[in-house]
Amino acid sequence: MTTDRQVIPQLGNDDLRLKIREAYLADETQVLKQLIEQADLSDQIRTDISSRAAEYVRTIRQSSLPSMMENFLAEYGLSTREGVALMCLAEALLRVPDAYTIDELIEDKISHGNWGQHLGHSGSPLVNASTWALLLTGKLMAADDEGKMLFTLQGLVKRLGEPVVRKAVAQSMKELGRHFVLGTSIEKAIVRARQLEARAYTYSYDMLGEAARTEADARRYHLAYSDAITALSAASKQSDIRNNPGISVKLSALHPRYEVGQHRDVMDQLVARTASLAMLARSANMGFNIDAEEADRLDISLDVIEQVLSNPALGNWDGFGVVVQAFSKCAPQVIDWLYALAQKLDRKIMVRLVKGAYWDTEIKRAQVLGLSDYPVFTRKTNTDICYLTCCKKLLGMTDRIYPQFATHNAYSVVAVLKLAETLNIDYQRFEFQRLHGMGEALHDYVVSHQNARCRIYAPVGEHQDLLAYLVRRLLENGANSSFVNQIVDTSISPEDIARDPVAIWKSYCGSVSNPGIPLPANIYGEHRRNSQGWDVTDISTIQNISEKRRLFQQHQWKASPTMATDIVNAENYPVFNPSNPADQVGEVTQASSSDVEWAVEQAQQAFGTWQSTSVEKRAEILCKIADLYEAHAEELFALLAREAGKNWLDAVGEVREAVDFAR
Ligand code: FAD
Ligand code: 2OP
Repeated sequence: MTTDRQVIPQLGNDDLRLKIREAYLADETQVLKQLIEQADLSDQIRTDISSRAAEYVRTIRQSSLPSMMENFLAEYGLSTREGVALMCLAEALLRVPDAYTIDELIEDKISHGNWGQHLGHSGSPLVNASTWALLLTGKLMAADDEGKMLFTLQGLVKRLGEPVVRKAVAQSMKELGRHFVLGTSIEKAIVRARQLEARAYTYSYDMLGEAARTEADARRYHLAYSDAITALSAASKQSDIRNNPGISVKLSALHPRYEVGQHRDVMDQLVARTASLAMLARSANMGFNIDAEEADRLDISLDVIEQVLSNPALGNWDGFGVVVQAFSKCAPQVIDWLYALAQKLDRKIMVRLVKGAYWDTEIKRAQVLGLSDYPVFTRKTNTDICYLTCCKKLLGMTDRIYPQFATHNAYSVVAVLKLAETLNIDYQRFEFQRLHGMGEALHDYVVSHQNARCRIYAPVGEHQDLLAYLVRRLLENGANSSFVNQIVDTSISPEDIARDPVAIWKSYCGSVSNPGIPLPANIYGEHRRNSQGWDVTDISTIQNISEKRRLFQQHQWKASPTMATDIVNAENYPVFNPSNPADQVGEVTQASSSDVEWAVEQAQQAFGTWQSTSVEKRAEILCKIADLYEAHAEELFALLAREAGKNWLDAVGEVREAVDFAR
């Protein structure tokens, strides 16, 4: 952050990119109003979609039994304490290296649950069996806590039982993971895919691994992707690219510093890596899709996408794909930008519309960073409305875009079919997509009854690379607002599951955003405002801070003890920038020992004044300090950088901490 070395990243800034940035943290009520206007769906169409979707729900419930995993996640969802314990366990077990810690972890997670209440609940014998196992484990461990069992018996059971319990729990957690993975290697996955390919499904393979931390990891993932494309090229025999397998790539896997602050390196190295994979996919006539990840990576991802797609060597190829997340407030603007890019480059591209798998992360991140608003919607219905609007938008862009509607929700599927019907779009001009291990019954129905196309997103890899992906699936399946969770819960009627989101929106009575999720500034309630944050991954924020900080590039600060009298024998010391010794930051006046003695004498009196000040007045003064820190934050950032060599993130953290302490 030192002023003289600072390089401001230059991200794309055409009009449509600016519109994306404007919408990024926009007001939810305003965004919803615009979305509903854009969707412009008559009451009749919306009622039709709902009633047809309810029929789908009924049919799916009648035609197929939920899988063991669906039953398991319905029984142990996120709304139960036991479900949360199991998800923590599944997530943590993948990372724990030694038996001792595994035992401690299992004990910690299992012993406090009330497993008995789940006994015999599920329609699935396997789920009930696992409840027995967990009940037994929980009982033994709880008994151990309370010391109610005979010591000898307990010791014996513990000695014999713990390794067995550990293995059983670890095994069932691995099973949970395996449900979502097509194969441990691309070769095994290709073989396993044949069964559904024979029934007209196609696949998009995803090599597990993301958020590379080191260059070695990024190279390993890059190699895994290029090996996978090479292996898949043998299976890509069709001239129509839509009938061939595809590959889905996470950019965060390919570069260890995939972030705005490293823009130059990213544009250099990540673009080259992505382009090399895209070329391989092009020569195999395969689809090549860029997954959407965390919101703070959206802006930079668009730069990478534009740069890669602009490569003339990728011309005459319709396989380049991009994922758009409808939970994001700027989803429609991203689609407009992609369409304009395809027009500019005279290409056809694929756009996969999802709702978004990082919702919990986005909400928490915005709160932690103290952002002005959330980048995502706070009500599921709002995401559903955005999905609907984006579906319509994409169906109107089929001259340049091959839409891929990725959803497990019958309402969303029916909405696409109905919109296509009203817009007179042939069902072959788009496809549906689902994740491996999810939404089988719905997609089977659509493929067989609607002659629609369906592709399955299939993760491939070893257990140790599964963690992040698995957590997202557990959150999605375990949330009681998810379609996949609700369809298993027969106490919810098909009509309720398939309710028209616009009708739900109308029933909010003005409260469009979720009252349970206050804005980041208000998360501590009305008595304490969260400190204002500066997102140093956001280019507009970076530009704004830089501009204001520039005023302090040469500034000379003067610091001295605050005394009610002149400092005796004042001595001034120069202060220099630790990262640039030629840069004098200012001067500090040190107090002499007689100044200190004088101050100590006065302190009694001064403290007395403070002590007799009312609590309200003192609070007001502290809050005023906090407000002043925020109002002068850019000067403080400049000072922190020049005096202490702090980087952007540290400087923001330091100011926010001071503000939080004062408040
Ligand atoms: P639904 O139950 O209708 O919707 C669930 C979704 O609603 C949640 O996932 C969340 O997005 C949203 N939601 C839940 N609660 C709230 C709330 N309170 N406020 C606002 N929104 C809420 N996801 C990515 O992020 N990037 C990808 O690249 C990606 N690729 C995918 C590829 C395929 C083929 C598929 C099928 C999915 C992919 N996903 C990706 C995951 C996808 O985002 C989720 O599977 C999807 O959100 C589930 O939506 P649904 O329509 O199936 O279910
Ligand atoms: C995810 O990794 C499927 O891309 C989506 O969660």
